[in-house]
Amino acid sequence: MLQTEKQYVQWQDNETTRNTLWLSESNQPPPARIVIVDDQTTADEAYRFACEGTSMLWRGDFHNARQLLQALTRRIERTEQRKISKATKSAKSVSDTAEIPNLFHQQRLAQAQRARVLSRLLLELDAGYVSRLRRAPELSAACTAAFGELDEPCLISFRDLQGALGAAQWREKGVPISALELSIFPHYGVFAPTRHEYVQLMLDAALPDQHELAFDIGTGTGLLAIILAQRGVKQVVATDLNPRALACAADNLQRLELTSVELQQADLFPTQQPLANLIVCNPPWLPAKPSSPLEYAVYDAKSAMLRGFLQGAPKHLAPQGEVWLILSDLAEHLQLRTREELLGWFAEAGLTVKYRLDTQPKHGRSQDESDPLYAARSAEVTSLWCLCPQ
Ligand SMILES: C[S@@+](CC[C@H](N)C(=O)[O-])C[C@H]1O[C@@H](n2cnc3c(N)ncnc32)[C@H](O)[C@@H]1O
Repeated sequence: MLQTEKQYVQWQDNETTRNTLWLSESNQPPPARIVIVDDQTTADEAYRFACEGTSMLWRGDFHNARQLLQALTRRIERTEQRKISKATKSAKSVSDTAEIPNLFHQQRLAQAQRARVLSRLLLELDAGYVSRLRRAPELSAACTAAFGELDEPCLISFRDLQGALGAAQWREKGVPISALELSIFPHYGVFAPTRHEYVQLMLDAALPDQHELAFDIGTGTGLLAIILAQRGVKQVVATDLNPRALACAADNLQRLELTSVELQQADLFPTQQPLANLIVCNPPWLPAKPSSPLEYAVYDAKSAMLRGFLQGAPKHLAPQGEVWLILSDLAEHLQLRTREELLGWFAEAGLTVKYRLDTQPKHGRSQDESDPLYAARSAEVTSLWCLCPQ
């Protein structure tokens, strides 16, 4: 089990009081009230239960639970849409750009509320993640890969279960990275490089003349370390705080038969290493508090990782070494960080900008004109900042 502390939930199964392990990767607290529902329960009834904070243990057909979750999602979206149009209208009457941080904050609150409501549809699984529901598929392999071995029954939200099933598919099929002519296989809970415009930046930047040793800080699936190894860096040391990321990177390296990358679990920089000729990092790019462990790759409260990386990098860099920072400027368009602040952090760390390569993301969200934050999202630029000590 990857969860640090086990939590149990007491609930009433008809006449019997049960005490069952509560499994929540999305950090939802154990349910306070549970009612038993099945195929007879209508979507409107279920939506009412979920909104009033009552969790529902599903005892119907497995596929009908999926449909019920979709029906709940549609109801939530309708409510969210109404709130968003109201907020957008009032934003227009104040000043378009002044309201952007507020709109972002409201979107985050809406996402958290959606996660809470949708996680109220529960399933009971036997030891080894076996479901007794009618038409239930085989769940053990996907759940074991996502959550670890489990030898006791558990209650899990249908939404978390779907996350594990979806991740198993990614892991099997892989994410094709066309610029590299290979696929990367993400694991559950590891940043999946589905938006990978930055790969081309990593290929376009000229390697420093000396490139015996490079560090990849926050390696995730291992993608940047793989690029450096394939470009001819003799040895790469890649770190991550997340043990799932390290297991995932090890898997990808093994598939590609790359033996020149060493993995270390570390907060930022590897220990006991000589100075590196190149240090790369693609940190979480939005300065906001992650609301669950699954968000740690995207959200970084107060830019702690970014600032720690910049402060620490010069101490780990060989003479004539370079730092390559991959960073989206979405935070700037959302007014969560200014360009001056970022340049100030470079200067404080004693780093100067040697050059910058830019690319514009083409992912779906940046093209969605109905998103109230469209102006910010469509203006996003991802850069590779090549930095050197002053
Ligand atoms: C945006 S993801 C990038 C992953 C990968 N480098 C890529 O480009 O696809 C950021 C990664 O940094 C890791 N991370 C966050 N804080 C960290 C820290 N303090 N030390 C090491 N890794 C960290 C996260 O676990 C995540 O894997």
